[in-house]
Amino acid sequence: MCKIHVDKSERLEGTVQISGSKNAVLPLLAATLLTDEPCELGGVPMLRDVDVMCRLLRFFGAKVDEDPAAARISVHAGAITANIAPPELVKAMRASIVAMGPLIARTGSAGAPLPGGCAIGDRPIDLHIKGFRSLGANVEFCDNEDGKGFVRAEAGRLKGAEMYLDFASVGATENIMMAAALAEGTTIIENPAQEPEIVDLANFLNKMGARIRGAGTDVIRIDGVEKLHGAEHTVIPDRIEAGTFMLAAAITGGSVQIENMLPNHVVPVTAKLRETGVYVREAFGGLFVDATRGALRATDIKTLPYPGFPTDVQPQFMAFLATVEGASTIIETVFENRFMHIKELNRMNAGIVEEGRKASLPGGASLKGASVRATDLRAGAALILAGLAAEGHTTVSDVHHVDRGYENLTEKLTKIGAKISRSNPGADDA
Ligand code: EPZ
Repeated sequence: MCKIHVDKSERLEGTVQISGSKNAVLPLLAATLLTDEPCELGGVPMLRDVDVMCRLLRFFGAKVDEDPAAARISVHAGAITANIAPPELVKAMRASIVAMGPLIARTGSAGAPLPGGCAIGDRPIDLHIKGFRSLGANVEFCDNEDGKGFVRAEAGRLKGAEMYLDFASVGATENIMMAAALAEGTTIIENPAQEPEIVDLANFLNKMGARIRGAGTDVIRIDGVEKLHGAEHTVIPDRIEAGTFMLAAAITGGSVQIENMLPNHVVPVTAKLRETGVYVREAFGGLFVDATRGALRATDIKTLPYPGFPTDVQPQFMAFLATVEGASTIIETVFENRFMHIKELNRMNAGIVEEGRKASLPGGASLKGASVRATDLRAGAALILAGLAAEGHTTVSDVHHVDRGYENLTEKLTKIGAKISRSNPGADDA
């Protein structure tokens, strides 16, 4: 498998361009199943997960044309010829589950193997199912031929309903919003996810003729329509990639201009970096992050659904806090097992103590290069950042996780001064 090699780097300096949002483009692609007319997306990041979603759309019968050079994808789901997601694609990407809502709304039925858990948690879909059932779908679980869990939904035309999400689930909000867009009558979602990716999806659906209000707030109202038409849309920038580069500047004591991003999407990350003494200001439509202005100090982090501190930037911030003078704590409230990177960071001398959902960092660690393993996408990013600050050489394995969510990460980091490279599968790691 590919590995990434990192050596202690000087202060990162220069300008980095952020790509389109992985967590926005995946539901946007799924939404194209809601119409028999062509749709076109711009500002698309060319990532492994995007490729899996395109394969899934083709499996369902859509015509999908990718233009990586132009960062554009066009999808024409003129006819849906299948609506049971294949196990190999669901296994490759849990987010495949957000195709269920559009398929139920468009064809009256959908099915998928249960996506199952991953490194960071069990990842149940009970809230997705609660939403589909509220809209009138009959949803059943069964074991498929290899005895694995399988979910199938059947419905006539869905009927609008009021519902409350026990947790502000991003995926469940997206699935329900897409299913409700073609339902008869009004749907109200109480306690929905409020992430920018939800707003981006609602904006795209409204361009397609949907009638959605309140996305980004604590109540979303969807007045169902008979039909949706094709539309064109540019994906919002990736706030998690932006946060990752903000931390890359911070952990190396550098100063980096981050462009093609939306500062108001990373307010919690900006606020917490400022608490540590990192200078952050809006500039040229993005953010200038400067960690050269004196000693940095510890701060505490607690992850929450948006607009709280993003769980997807927690591992990267942990790597940074490990190096900053002063004790700090990190509490992870969104996922039950999103501390897999602690063991790997401790192999680099981070000295972090894990107690359930709380991590305690002594701070002031002199990180040492080591051979470490990316357990999930953002853990991999955190280990790369740690390698930038660690004495000696760090090898990060299982970087296929990182490739799921970061476009040209090593090239972008190299351009601002990072000592980083990739070895090909099976190449000597010397
Ligand atoms: C999305 O995952 C993102 N993925 C995740 O990003 C992100 O960490 C997460 O939202 C939270 O912000 C994509 O958008 C593709 P959730 P999702 O449903 O939708 C529980 C990354 O690194 N839950 O909001 O799967 C669940 O167990 C990835 O880019 C239920 O209990 O997240 C978890 O504890 C990682 N029942 C919490 O909610 C359900 O039916 C958050 O899950 C659904 C979720």
